[in-house]
Amino acid sequence: MKINLIKKEALEEINQVKGLKELEEIFRKYLGKKGEISLVLRSLKDMSEKERKENGLIANKIKKELSELITKKKKEILLTEKKTPNQEWIDVTAPGILPPQGHPHPISLVQQQIEESFQSMGFSVIDGPEVETEYYNFDALNIPKNHPARDQWDTFWLKNLDLLLRTHTSPMQARYMEKNNPPLRIIVPGRCFRHEATDASHDVQFYQVEGLMVGKKISMANFKGVIETFLKDFFGPELKMRLQPDYFPFTEPSFEVDIKRKDGNWLEIMGAGMVHPNVLKSVGYLPNKWQGFAFGIGIDRLAMLKYEIDDIRLLYSGDMRFLKQF
Ligand code: FA5
Repeated sequence: MKINLIKKEALEEINQVKGLKELEEIFRKYLGKKGEISLVLRSLKDMSEKERKENGLIANKIKKELSELITKKKKEILLTEKKTPNQEWIDVTAPGILPPQGHPHPISLVQQQIEESFQSMGFSVIDGPEVETEYYNFDALNIPKNHPARDQWDTFWLKNLDLLLRTHTSPMQARYMEKNNPPLRIIVPGRCFRHEATDASHDVQFYQVEGLMVGKKISMANFKGVIETFLKDFFGPELKMRLQPDYFPFTEPSFEVDIKRKDGNWLEIMGAGMVHPNVLKSVGYLPNKWQGFAFGIGIDRLAMLKYEIDDIRLLYSGDMRFLKQF
C-alpha cells in the first residue's frame, strides 16, 4: 500500500537527519499542508466507504507516529547542539530551579505553640542564660554542695570557671523572683545540657520550658487546672494525664506528669511541684504569705509525641530528609 511506502521512506529520512533545517523540510514534505500524508488524507473522499475507513485509520495513525518521531528527533538535535561549545544554546522557556526555602524547625514550631497557649492564660515569656552559675543552677534551688540530688543532673562544667551549662531551666525561678515581686506567672523556654549517654529519648542537649506561678493561696489544684488546659490545647480534648509522686529538692510535694500515648502506655513529660519554702526564702519571699507551683516540661518529648518521632537524636541531626517533613 502506498501509505506504508511513504512511512518507510519518511522513517529512513528522519533517522538520518542531522540538522534542524533538514528536519523541518522532512516535516513539510510529509506532514505539511501539501505533504504526502496530507495528500493521502485528502484523497480519502474519493474512495469507497470501506476503503475510506481502513485507509483513514492507517493514515491518521502514521501521521501521529511521524509527528511524534519528528518532535523527539528535534529534542535530540537541540541537546547535541547544546553540548557543542561554539553553538551555545539557552532554552529561555525552560522552568527555573527554585532555591530551597527554609522553614521553622519542629522544636521551634512546638515552642511557639506552647508560648501561645500559656500567654492566653496570662503567663509572660522570659528568656534566661544558657551558661549559668553554680549558685542559680543548684544552691538557690535548695541543692547545696555535696547534696546527693546533684547526681540527678549530670553537668557540663566550664574549665577553671565557676560556671556550667545549665542542666535545666529552673535557675530562672530564682533569677526572676529576685528581681520581681509576687504575684507572678512566667514560662521560660530554652536549651539545656546534660553530660549523659544518649539514647532514643535522651540527648546531651534538649529543650525545656519552665513554668512558675506564685500568688496568695496558689494550690496544686491551680497547677492541675493550668497544666490540663495546656495539654488539651496542645494535644486535643481527648488527652489523658496523671500525676505521680516524684522528688525534686526545690519543690514539696513533687510529682511527675505522665500522659497516655496512643499505644496505651504512659510517658513522663515533666517534673513539677509546689515551690519549696527554702527557695521562696532564698529570694526574699515570705513562705507563709506566698505559695506557688513550678514545672519543667521537655519540649523535645512533646515534639516527639506530636509528630510521632521515635528518636530524639533526629531533631539535632540536620538531616534534610527528616527536616523537610515539617
Ligand atoms: C528537671 O529538670 C526539673 N528542673 C523539672 C522541674 C521544674 C521540677 C520545676 C519541679 C519544678 P527532669 O530532670 O525530670 O527535671 O527533666 C524534666 C523533663 O526534661 C523530663 O521529663 C524530660 O521531658 C526532659 N529531659 C530531661 N533530660 C533530658 C534529656 N537528656 N534529653 C531530652 N529530654 C530530657
